[in-house]
Formats: sequence, structure tokens, C-alpha cells
Amino acid sequence: MAETSLEQIRSRVDADWNRIVELLKSKIALRSVSAEGITGDHMKRSAQFVADELRKVGVDAKVVQSANPDGTPGAWEVIGSRIVAPGAPTVLLYAHHDVQPVPDPTAWNTDPFVGTEIDGRLYGRGSADDGGGIAIHSGALAALGDELNVNVKVFIEGEEEMGSPSFIPFIEAHRDEFKSDVIIVADSGNWSADIPSLTTSLRGNTCVDVHVKVLDHPVHSGQYGGPILDANTIAAMLISSLYDANGDLAVPGIESQEPVGGLQRDLDESTVRADAGVIDSYTLAGTGSLAARMWTKPSLTVIGFDAHPVEGSFNVISPETTFRLSLRTAPGQRPEQAQEALAGFLESHAPFGAQVRVDRLENGMGWAMDPNAVATKDALEAMREAFGIEPINKGEGGSIPFIPELQRLFPDAQVLVTGPEDPKANAHSPNESISLSGLRHNVETEALLLAKLGR
Ligand code: BES
Ligand code: MN
Repeated sequence: MAETSLEQIRSRVDADWNRIVELLKSKIALRSVSAEGITGDHMKRSAQFVADELRKVGVDAKVVQSANPDGTPGAWEVIGSRIVAPGAPTVLLYAHHDVQPVPDPTAWNTDPFVGTEIDGRLYGRGSADDGGGIAIHSGALAALGDELNVNVKVFIEGEEEMGSPSFIPFIEAHRDEFKSDVIIVADSGNWSADIPSLTTSLRGNTCVDVHVKVLDHPVHSGQYGGPILDANTIAAMLISSLYDANGDLAVPGIESQEPVGGLQRDLDESTVRADAGVIDSYTLAGTGSLAARMWTKPSLTVIGFDAHPVEGSFNVISPETTFRLSLRTAPGQRPEQAQEALAGFLESHAPFGAQVRVDRLENGMGWAMDPNAVATKDALEAMREAFGIEPINKGEGGSIPFIPELQRLFPDAQVLVTGPEDPKANAHSPNESISLSGLRHNVETEALLLAKLGR
């Protein structure tokens, strides 16, 4: 059979476009927030919706509940396959159906759970991360229809945003349903809505909770203030001791790396500032290329801090506090190693001998692409054709920790990391959105790529 052409794919995606956008809107309406309970009915409904949608495009899909390593019930996962010929290459399509929470709907300009089109973008929680990934797979399979000439396996995960706790036992229990030659992880993104990218690397991640204590009980801040620093101040000093004067993390044992495969083009500072909404006076921290700082050097974020709210505060010295640090690690460093370096530094640099206790939380490994894989070349060619522009390789600062696990279990599989996001997507933030023109090109690219892989 002749390979399906880009023209054929384009006209089919065109004809299918309303369905693809409606799929995304229905998915957004399902509020599949895994942080509200991975095993919940809302997650089961979301998985069932995805399985129904996959069946519409010829995938024999089912919903399966995973089990955690301790045996307790886990996430609602969607797995399926469409086998066209025993000898054909097999491609595993991955996305996740769970989404991030919406802690403050008033920070949104639209209802986060009603897909709303404004100026060529569809707004809503999970519109990009990772409803977009599901829409890409669905659209690509529909566009190829009966001309599909690779075997397809599908895994749409229900707990990615929670760090995939049951992932390993799940794939071990479903090895055959995962076994494949090429794995397409559609959970990352492009340089911009118009310029496609393969993701060259992802950072790892690790978390610690830090408990700081200076007093047995609160005391009057006027009476005792001076020699006794409050726990929040001690915590602030401890945090700032992790950085050098340039704003680079300076913790021995936490590694840095340069962009994987070399830097084709550095990120443009003014674009980054505008996309992230950086205020004018703020000067960016750290040294080296902006790309290295955002993709391959480590970065630390205080993601939680137990301090008294300003409202209702009074003159007292806080005896103790806890804060949570999220550390993004260089793609090649084992996160446990970086975690130990961080925890050890914190424990041994307590200002004024305050008590510092560190709880070591979850770890996820980073990842780097194999530039020489055949699938990598096919994917870049498909991007070039579908977007009509040369792709630019791009690292990502975010993490998809199960990828190295998949790679470990299927060492011969070629992994491609693609996806619907772009720098304006606001994943995990208010006003998340997906570029509809970008989505269309992503669907065309994946259809073309599957056609190429089946040659
Ligand atoms: N899709 C993101 C990862 C990502 C973010 C890729 C930005 C490319 C650009 C993914 O869903 C995610 O958010 N992962 C978590 C993993 C964590 C829970 C272990 C992350 O990076 O915080
Ligand atoms: Mn995601």
C-alpha cells in the first residue's frame, strides 16, 4: 500500500477537526484532577471517556485499575491496541488523562472546566497538559484510518501529575501490552505554536520537606526579639545559603549539564520574560545560556511554606516552620544522589545551630534523547513537512519520570518525546491553553510519522 501522503492527511484532519476540538472540550469538562484522589470515580469516568474515544478510532481499548507497590488500588489507566500485521513495527502512544488542580478559579479569565476558544487558543485545565496529547493520538489514528500500517499500542495514564506511583508494577503486569519498537510520549511541547520540536532532554525531580525549630513554644517578639531569630528567618537564611551571588545553585554534589546534543538556538530572553510574565525590574538569576538554566542546570523552588498568614498575625516569634523544596535535577544525574547532596547540605548548614530536620520525599529520573535513532530522524522529517518549517530541538525543564523506567524495561525501544505544549500554554497555572493551529500541525505530524514508521 502506498504511504499516506501529507495532502491526504491534511484533508482528513480538516474534515475531522470539529470532532477533535469537541473531544478536547469534553475531556476538559471531566475535571480529572488526580490530586483529588487517584482512585476516585471522577478519574474512572475520565478513563472511560478516553477509552470510548479510542474505540472510535479503531483502538481496542479498556480501562484497568493499577495496583500500587504496596498492593493498594491505584490509578484508572487506559490501555489498548490496534494490531494491523504481526510483522509490522509496533508503536506505543502515550499520554495522560489526569490534570493538575485548580486551587483558585478566580485567577482564570474563563471557567477552567469549560473549554473556551479565544484568539486561536482553547483555554481550560488540561487543554494542553495532557488533553492535547490524547487529541493528537486520536486525530492521527483517525487520519490514517484503514491505511494505518504500524501496530499501535496505547497507554493513557491516570496519575502522571502525581508522579506515577503505580507505574512500575503496572507495566510489569502488562509487559506485552507495552512492548513496542517506538514509544511516542506526547506530553511535552514545541518551541512555539509554529515551530516544532523534539524534546531532547527532561530534568529529573526530587522533593524534600525541611523542618526548622528554634524554640519550644512561641514567645513575645518584643521581649525576646534580637538574639532569638524566628524560624521563618532561619529558614530564609538556610534557603539563601544554597545559592551563590549570581543566583546559581551552589550545593556540592548537585550537578549541572549543558544542553543535550548542543544548543541549536538559545532561548530569547524577552520572549521568556513575556511568556512567563516576569516583571520589568527583575533580572534573571544564574549564569550560562538561558537554555541551560531552564533545561539542564538544576533548579530549586520552595513550593510550600508553613508560615502564619499575614491576616491575623501578631507579635510573636515563630518557634518552628516547615517548607517543601522541589529540586529539578540535570537530565543525567540520579535524583537520589542530588537529594542526598541537598539534604546533607541543609542539615549541616543550620544557621545559629537551629534544629533542621529533612524528610526525603519522592525522586524521578531525568532523560536524554538518542539523536541517532531512526525514529528520531523520521519524526524530525514529519515535523518539517507538516509544519513547513525546520524543527528546533528543545530541552524541557519539566519532568516525565516514567520515561527512564520505560526505557529500562524496554531497552531497545526508541523513545520520542513530543507534545501539544508551547511556551504560552501555562501548564499547571491559571489560564492553561493549547494553540489550535499548533494542535492541528501536531496531529498531522504524528499521522505522517506513523506512516513513515510503517514503511
Ligand atoms: N507535561 C509535564 C512535563 C512537562 C512540562 C514537559 C513542561 C514539557 C514542558 C508533566 O505532566 C508534568 O508536569 N510532570 C511533573 C512530574 C512530577 C509530578 C514528577 C512535573 O514536571 O512537575
Ligand atoms: Mn503532562
